[in-house]
Amino acid sequence: MQQEAAAVGTTNFKGMTLERHIREEERNHPGARGLFTRLVTQITLAAKIINAEVNKAGLVDILGLTGEVNVQGEEVQKLDEYANDVMRKALDHTGSVAALASEEMEDVYVIPGEYIEGGEYVVLYDPLDGSSNIDVNVSIGSIFSILRRKGESGPTELDDFLQPGVSQICAGYVIYGSSTMLVYTTGNGVDGFTLDPSVGEFFLSHPDIQIPERGKIYSINEGNSSKWDESTSRYITYLKEEDAESGRPYSGRYIGSLVADFHRNLLKGGIFLYPGDKKNPSGKLRLLYECNPMSFIVEQAGGAASDGHRRIMEIQPEKLHQRVPFIVGSKHDVADAIRFMSRGGN
Ligand code: AHG
Ligand code: MN
Ligand code: MN
Repeated sequence: MQQEAAAVGTTNFKGMTLERHIREEERNHPGARGLFTRLVTQITLAAKIINAEVNKAGLVDILGLTGEVNVQGEEVQKLDEYANDVMRKALDHTGSVAALASEEMEDVYVIPGEYIEGGEYVVLYDPLDGSSNIDVNVSIGSIFSILRRKGESGPTELDDFLQPGVSQICAGYVIYGSSTMLVYTTGNGVDGFTLDPSVGEFFLSHPDIQIPERGKIYSINEGNSSKWDESTSRYITYLKEEDAESGRPYSGRYIGSLVADFHRNLLKGGIFLYPGDKKNPSGKLRLLYECNPMSFIVEQAGGAASDGHRRIMEIQPEKLHQRVPFIVGSKHDVADAIRFMSRGGN
């Protein structure tokens, strides 16, 4: 029998690419004219570039601190700065973006008029989330949020960024972990894409992500327990009590990268808390480029996000780098936490 010709490479075209998915999503946004697709495609390009650098961070001189301190008063890791530049360069020539805001830039970055064609969007991002984990090879990420400018014309200014989370038209994150994934929503559900490094393309791997209504994992930095408000302490104690009927005690898991802790809970269920405490009543995480995008995603996946009293996405921002207490995850778990926080925890 004639020898079968050897397979010449698999034609296993994996189906939906991220780029095709974005184009199809765009049809749900009347008035979007392909500019939105171009914008999100540029973000995925930035993700691929940052991913390449993250994957070899140990080899090139990109680890460690720059010796500078950013607007947050935090030491800037070189990869933060690199990722910030990659995101800015990927977005400042799309034509559809009028201005940018980043954790690593004190003020908004208004894109020069000559590079703007339409310019109806502004983008906020945390270019590298989980910086403290960069040089210990633990998963880190990037987070982004897209808003329409408030005004149709005139200069883009800070006020265009100070919009509540319900105004977001798109939000997403990239997690640079055992595989690199991009998870995003445009208000039509949540979809996850995994990067196939052999072809440099993101393929749909987690369609229509739904977070379990209740989980068995809680994620909080227990090292802060001496500073916790009474209600936080009571809630965490409650989660540790033995009660088979309500699935307690929960397991504690804390990676220290919001993107990684959030992604695990999104897929498995559970609750993440970075609450306000006696020392920092507003907590640590930033409303505009960490909490709002993650809240949009979790709500689209059937979960919830609160500052302990208010829905995160309804908070009217006052400052670009404003911090808020952040409680996010499975809806029944977040509801329990709010019950403790609003009634002083009984
Ligand atoms: P970033 O690296 O962008 O500053 O974010 C770090 C954040 C977040 O990723 C994580 O949930 C939190 O800091 C961890 O803070 P602690 O180390 O205080 O627990
Ligand atoms: Mn962050
Ligand atoms: Mn960051």
